[in-house]
Amino acid sequence: MKLLEERIRKDGRVLGQDVLKVDTFLNHQIDPELLSAIGEEFARLFAGKNIDKILTVESSGIAPAVFTGLALHVPVVFARKNKSLTLPDDVWIADVYSFTKQTTNHIMIDHRFLKAGENVLLIDDFLANGQAIEGLLAITQQADAQVVGVGIVIEKTFQKGRQILDDRGIQVESLARIQSFESGQVQFLS
Ligand code: G4P
Repeated sequence: MKLLEERIRKDGRVLGQDVLKVDTFLNHQIDPELLSAIGEEFARLFAGKNIDKILTVESSGIAPAVFTGLALHVPVVFARKNKSLTLPDDVWIADVYSFTKQTTNHIMIDHRFLKAGENVLLIDDFLANGQAIEGLLAITQQADAQVVGVGIVIEKTFQKGRQILDDRGIQVESLARIQSFESGQVQFLS
């Protein structure tokens, strides 16, 4: 998505070998016009699919998921993160390890918001090691729901998340695919 790549080139900041800061437009301050275009683009890419709802994980997945839900006219559910050891009943639950934060969170979705047989589209801001999406896949499996695809705003192709999803035969659409951060510059996969 050209508009997104241009914005990453203009406002993204590379930190070290493998982190891209996009907090001026995506995951701290949010640019609603860009996010609206992102939602429209996901809606176009998944237009042929039968989608009952969109799932994401709090917090940074919520903005792209909501704009996609708006474009597709379907509800959006975000998995909540919980560090506590006492967990409520009536939730689907999975562990998600964050490589960047080196912590494990439980993510959970109330049974009322994900039912057997529902067709869901997963949306997230970054695909890095794929832990967040794997957690959502585990939850959909528990609920006996079907994943019709995964939409990612920014994919870092040099980390292992994409491979995990390809190995499962899931349709993945990424709006910006980053090949490397050579000398602090973002290189996109052409
Ligand atoms: P994953 O997202 O593919 O599971 O990979 P990883 O465990 O490495 O990522 C952990 C967290 O860091 C995730 O956010 C993910 O979105 C974010 N992240 C990964 N790579 C980058 C990057 O290059 N830049 C930025 N800005 N974030 C990155 P999270 O822990 O779920 O936090 P939240 O911000 O959604 O609350």
